[in-house]
Amino acid sequence: MLSSVRIASRQAVSRSIAARNAVALRQASTWANVPQGPPKQDAILGITEAFKADSFKEKINLGVGAYRDDQGKPYVLPSVRTAEDKVVSAHLNKEYAGITGVPEFTKAAAVLAYGAGSSALDRLVITQSISGTGALRIGGAFLERFYPGAKKIYIPNPSWANHGAVFKDAGLAVEKYRYYNKDTIGLDFEGMVADIKAAPKNSIFLLHACAHNPTGIDPTVEQWKEISDVVKAGEHYAFFDMAYQGFASGDTDKDAFPVRMFVEQGHNPCLAQSFAKNMGLYGERAGAFSIVCADAEEKKRVDSQVKILVRPLYSNPPVHGARIAAEILNDKALNKQWLGEVKGMADRIITMRALLKKELEGLGSKHDWSHITNQIGMFAYTGLTPAQMDKLATEHSVYATKDGRISVAGITSGNVKRLAAAIHAVKP
Ligand SMILES: Cc1ncc(COP(=O)(O)O)c(C=O)c1O
Repeated sequence: MLSSVRIASRQAVSRSIAARNAVALRQASTWANVPQGPPKQDAILGITEAFKADSFKEKINLGVGAYRDDQGKPYVLPSVRTAEDKVVSAHLNKEYAGITGVPEFTKAAAVLAYGAGSSALDRLVITQSISGTGALRIGGAFLERFYPGAKKIYIPNPSWANHGAVFKDAGLAVEKYRYYNKDTIGLDFEGMVADIKAAPKNSIFLLHACAHNPTGIDPTVEQWKEISDVVKAGEHYAFFDMAYQGFASGDTDKDAFPVRMFVEQGHNPCLAQSFAKNMGLYGERAGAFSIVCADAEEKKRVDSQVKILVRPLYSNPPVHGARIAAEILNDKALNKQWLGEVKGMADRIITMRALLKKELEGLGSKHDWSHITNQIGMFAYTGLTPAQMDKLATEHSVYATKDGRISVAGITSGNVKRLAAAIHAVKP
């Protein structure tokens, strides 16, 4: 008979062997060599965490790139609610869409971007995409596979934080062209043009069509014309990212000007479209990628290859968001209502910009804050330094990215005074 002491000791030994084996098993794991990613891989997620952890009641989150109403709440557009009700009550089936998505959506998306009378429409290849990000990724993959020049894309410095990763993962080399002048808190137009001119013939240039993210600084109409000329002179290829059509000025035609002008000037660009911001369809992932081809014959070939490319990626895109967007784009009354709502969002942002500037001036700030009202779209580049942004967070519970970018959508008539006071305190 074994004594209870010996039994306990044997049990302890076998527990420790089991534990050792478990460690050994863990060490032999397939993923043993996967390194830990940097903790704040996405700066925005870090801000959201810090914001959530702050118990101060009047804390302000200016990090998120999503529209908020004047109460600081997420906003579902009434036109989207109506369109969604129509889609749901139609009791449509849930069959797969084709590889390139819901045709009623892509056709209307093309008209929205290029304009109803555009010469591009009958030589356009278009596919629905997983919102703007997916459109950029399909575009990157198509260029990687077929672009006849160097597989390198130039993006603005700075650009949307995900551009570099999207194109790199699609197999393109990524370089930057000058865009932001920190001394003027404006566009470095000379630098931009010089970099386009200096790039090797046939380079690919990523251009933000409107509401440049993160700076909120767009070229003027005259500057766009010059950009078109230098892109053409270098025999470069233009890839437009239009994530904010209508959201910038409140006018979808005005915001699409660069894309349409490039087509008129004889460029055959490609385009990534998103309906995340202008319809507030963030999580529905409704977007489109299109390529303007030379003619119908080229269109046929390119179309076949876009399908070949998309099929092994995700077979076909989700239908719900595209159906909602299609209702809005194709129903005359709903379309009119939506355009009014887009303008409403853009106008609220424009008003908040003006109010913030006015409050800062009212506090006696000696700095020139006119860039806040000159910039456009969801974001404002304040020109605040990383140290000042840190102070905003730690001393004033105002959270935004360290590069000085604030989401104007997070400003409300209720918090603008406190925000101005906080900015004035960190940059007296
Ligand atoms: C410039 C730019 N492009 C593309 C996107 C992609 O957005 P989504 O994939 O949500 O459509 C964003 C989102 O913030 C953006 O700012």
